[in-house]
Amino acid sequence: MPQSYISGLGHYVPPRCVTNKDLEKLMDTSDEWIVERTGINTRHWVDIDTESTAGMGVKASLIAIKNANINVEDIDFIIFCTLSPDYFFPGSGVLVQEQLGLGTIGALDIRNQCSGFVYGLSIADQYIKTGMFKNILVIGSEIQSTGMDISTSGRNVSVIFGDGAGAAVVSASEKKNRGILSTHLHSEGKHAEELMAKDRCCTSEKGKPFNAERFYPVMNGNNVFKHAVTRFPEVINEALIKNGYLSKDINLLIPHQANLRIAQFIQRTMKLRDDQVFNNIMNYGNTTAASIPIALSEAWQQGKVNEGDLICLAAFGSGFTWASALIKW
Ligand code: ACO
Repeated sequence: MPQSYISGLGHYVPPRCVTNKDLEKLMDTSDEWIVERTGINTRHWVDIDTESTAGMGVKASLIAIKNANINVEDIDFIIFCTLSPDYFFPGSGVLVQEQLGLGTIGALDIRNQCSGFVYGLSIADQYIKTGMFKNILVIGSEIQSTGMDISTSGRNVSVIFGDGAGAAVVSASEKKNRGILSTHLHSEGKHAEELMAKDRCCTSEKGKPFNAERFYPVMNGNNVFKHAVTRFPEVINEALIKNGYLSKDINLLIPHQANLRIAQFIQRTMKLRDDQVFNNIMNYGNTTAASIPIALSEAWQQGKVNEGDLICLAAFGSGFTWASALIKW
């Protein structure tokens, strides 16, 4: 049976960098409040006239494909993870297929928000292990900035999120004990309304005027925090136990970049050293499905992900959904 492994990584964030001071001009907030509660200093926002969710995914993918040392035409399947697709339908995966000129290969969209990339990786892992595909593009891409209330009434949400894309090429290998060791997926839909955008779906009240309360994301921040700090360690431990490892064996944990305070809580709970946890939310904010592939790509670029390392990816988000992947690099 082939093993699956990540053969290439890439990420792209739009050039426009928005500081907390910039946000102070748009809403009643402060650099101090944002840094203290979230750890975020800057995020990147698109120029919507020149960028798209699929387009940013393509930019990240081309870097990932180059780093995988393969050609674009070697990709045989696309998995696109986002909560901010270009259209309500079709999904953005088909747009990537078209923009990359990839014949008529299959393209699948994943709607699992912050956990989307790990869910996508899990699907890619299964397809590779069954021998169905050899090189799968797994993309996380988000444009949050155009879908948030960036006035004072939306400040508890809009200071947190940013735009960007990350991509991984998941490839087949005959090497044993290498690559994706296991993935673990969970959901609990009774919490769906704790973090949601109500009206961007087919149950919307057609013909009704724009209703900001229903269009913009709403979040019960305290409850999200409470569940996140429980589910993250749970699903990380599930992956470690499944593969006979302890938390001290992790070389690098890449948690979904939800909020620096959540990541620090997980680090303390799991008794991990600073060098065992990678965070870049300070620079990019929370980019939802893109946060893990951006962080993994950046960590790899910085030489923090090396052959033989035990890498753990873990996510929690809207749904609620949560997931982990343990990788022997
Ligand atoms: N700037 C200034 N003041 C603000 C802001 C802001 N951006 N946002 C909220 N406030 C105010 C509120 O109005 C409130 O004022 P009041 O006391 O006068 O009513 C006060 O700050 C406290 O509001 P809370 O919502 O209780 O703020 P809290 O301390 O819980 O912090 C936060 C909010 C940071 C969102 C926190 O709940 C949290 O970290 N939650 C975790 C959720 C999270 O990080 N989600 C990320 C996305 S989900 C995911 O990826 C898993």
